[in-house]
Amino acid sequence: MKTFLPWSLKIIGNPGRDNVVLSPRQAMQLAIKEAEKGFGFVEPNPPVGCVILDSEYRFLSSGFHAKYGGDHAEVSALKKIKDKSRLKGGHVFITLEPCHHKGKTPPCSLELAKYPIQSLTYGTEEPFTNKKGLNYLCEKGIDIVRSIDFQKELEALVAPFKFATLNKKSFVSLKIASSLDGTTALETGESQWITGESARKHAHFLRARYSAILIGFNTLLKDNPQLNIRVEPFKKKKNKVVILDPEGKSFSFLLQSNLLKVRALEDVIVCCLDKVKKNTLGINQLSLPFTSSHSKSVNIKHRFSLSPLLEILYREEQIQSVLVEGGAFCWSEFLRQKAAQKLYLYMAPKIIGKGLRWSDHFKIGNLSQSINLQSLKIIPIEDDYLLEVSF
Ligand SMILES: NC(=O)c1ccc[n+]([C@@H]2O[C@H](COP(=O)([O-])OP(=O)(O)OC[C@H]3O[C@@H](n4cnc5c(N)ncnc54)[C@H](OP(=O)(O)O)[C@@H]3O)[C@@H](O)[C@H]2O)c1
Repeated sequence: MKTFLPWSLKIIGNPGRDNVVLSPRQAMQLAIKEAEKGFGFVEPNPPVGCVILDSEYRFLSSGFHAKYGGDHAEVSALKKIKDKSRLKGGHVFITLEPCHHKGKTPPCSLELAKYPIQSLTYGTEEPFTNKKGLNYLCEKGIDIVRSIDFQKELEALVAPFKFATLNKKSFVSLKIASSLDGTTALETGESQWITGESARKHAHFLRARYSAILIGFNTLLKDNPQLNIRVEPFKKKKNKVVILDPEGKSFSFLLQSNLLKVRALEDVIVCCLDKVKKNTLGINQLSLPFTSSHSKSVNIKHRFSLSPLLEILYREEQIQSVLVEGGAFCWSEFLRQKAAQKLYLYMAPKIIGKGLRWSDHFKIGNLSQSINLQSLKIIPIEDDYLLEVSF
């Protein structure tokens, strides 16, 4: 099987070798690559990468935020420079503005200000910081520059963190595996497997980036999935699972399910309507009110609104991001309620024909109501394709 590096940028220069001269653009590209190493390990913090060059733009060190509570990227890069005199007139490139508050580690702004660096180039800002760290460093005489390069990549690094912090609700991506004609399962319910082994492996790296996986009641019953992460270095990572089950029909099945063979009961959240009696089985049951705000054209018997659900998941369960893994009813609800920010469509170049298409339950009256997506990226994965796109 061909190996691939998910989301990796081309390797530039040799960060392991001193004295390689990097342009500011190359330095920021390398900082992004460093940041990506933290994906899946640093939540609820965002992944951050840093590159430090000397006064002649020669490579000195790079670093990244490797684990929640651990060193921030700037500190990790600074620590690798033994001869600190080489920082005189140096240039720091960092994917996110440096923090100015004492959290689990000291403020990075204060750490950077200890050294006679000339400039700091940052990729993007954090919400609600009022650029305090940047202003502090500016007052200390350091030139502050906002990178004009790689803005899309830089924003993508922090998208779930920024969205959740600003909106106080979980960031949502839909993840679908379909045929070229959009089918995700046969009418018999058979859906394993539509895409090849490499695409499925890639999807595990995607899972590692999300705090929770969300599925509908039918997918639990028909697929009995594990929804854990079965690739290194994430095999030990715990992820939560959220099940949309308005009538509370999944309880007894859940207790015997594959979900619980690989995670604790407390890591599964079952969302039910508030009319459903609280279970006595120890299942984490989230009660949501029935919503009447839906259009009359759809069956409103069992629906709840997704926005309040995502607010509760963020506030009460510390779920920063959710990957919606199906099925069709679920994906369609997220489309209809405009509750998703990204779509990952793994598409196999095969035609399956009649079955369950992923948007089957989403309906519009005329073409002006189509959902127009942005920033389409097409990534070939062996014989399949991943379409990555934003809402
Ligand atoms: N190819 C793939 O990527 C893929 C991935 C996953 C699943 N699948 C396949 O998809 C099929 C299942 O899809 P499906 O469309 O039948 O079912 P589903 O989306 O898994 O589950 C549908 C049920 O979830 C509940 N639900 C979803 N959204 C809700 C909301 N906003 N409010 C309240 N309840 C909500 C409802 O339960 P109630 O019925 O109780 O109202 C609904 O009927 C399976 O055959 C599975 O193999 C394929």
